[in-house]
Amino acid sequence: MHLETLAVHAGRRIEATGDVTPAIHLSSTFERDADGQYSRGFSYSREGNPNRQMLEECLAQLEGGSQALVFASGLAVVTAVVQSLEPGDHIVAPDDVYYCLRKVTGKLFGKWPLSVTYVDMTDLDAVQAAMRPETRVLWLETPSNPLLKVTDLAAIAAIARGTNAITICDGTFATPVCQRPLEYGIDLVTHSTTKYLNGHSDCIGGALIARHDSYLFERCRTAQIHGGLVPSAFDCWLTLRGIATLPWRMRAHGEHALRVARFL
Ligand SMILES: Cc1ncc(COP(=O)(O)O)c(C=O)c1O
Repeated sequence: MHLETLAVHAGRRIEATGDVTPAIHLSSTFERDADGQYSRGFSYSREGNPNRQMLEECLAQLEGGSQALVFASGLAVVTAVVQSLEPGDHIVAPDDVYYCLRKVTGKLFGKWPLSVTYVDMTDLDAVQAAMRPETRVLWLETPSNPLLKVTDLAAIAAIARGTNAITICDGTFATPVCQRPLEYGIDLVTHSTTKYLNGHSDCIGGALIARHDSYLFERCRTAQIHGGLVPSAFDCWLTLRGIATLPWRMRAHGEHALRVARFL
């Protein structure tokens, strides 16, 4: 299926009433069967919610991943990743990474025994030199915010191969319409869905999409469910609705950007 078709259909289910647009499932808790089981798959909304599940399935398919988790914000993803690390672990991150990553590692987890090296990700020798035996996360952001630097995804994936580092690409600015990092060997993709994915400036959200299973992804799932980093059902519904027009909006953004670039 083409991306335009996936953007409209992926993750959505036709429910008992036949609605072609999913309902918003606001219930915090779900009915048990007579024998006490939850055969319909949901028990309590922090642990699982139909709107969240639909958005996660849609994002996994758009990125070509095996599974996805959605969070209350883009920064909640960073929080989940950082708190999933072990004492002594090391992170390599871009020198112009979205500034709040420094806030999470510095202000929020500053007392934890973690270290971060910031490098210019477009300088592959510098990235290679920054790697240590205890490097567990090689974080990249491409195009980066604010300098819009573009990183060679396949080259970064090659640097991480054979090390204990998991590669995580923040693809917020590109979206899966312009860039699908998992196809270049990156392990995890993250997004602030607040931006182009939602596209209507009416809700905050974040996502983490995996190419394959990993201990880090499972720890992030624990942070999401048991750390309570979940988005509301309504926010998931809004984001999924926004995604329906994502490919067409990105096409318009690209056309406008090209006109500005030609004019300049
Ligand atoms: C590239 C990038 N990543 C992550 C974030 C954080 O996302 P949120 O504001 O949804 O927490 C932002 C926010 O501007 C961003 O630009």
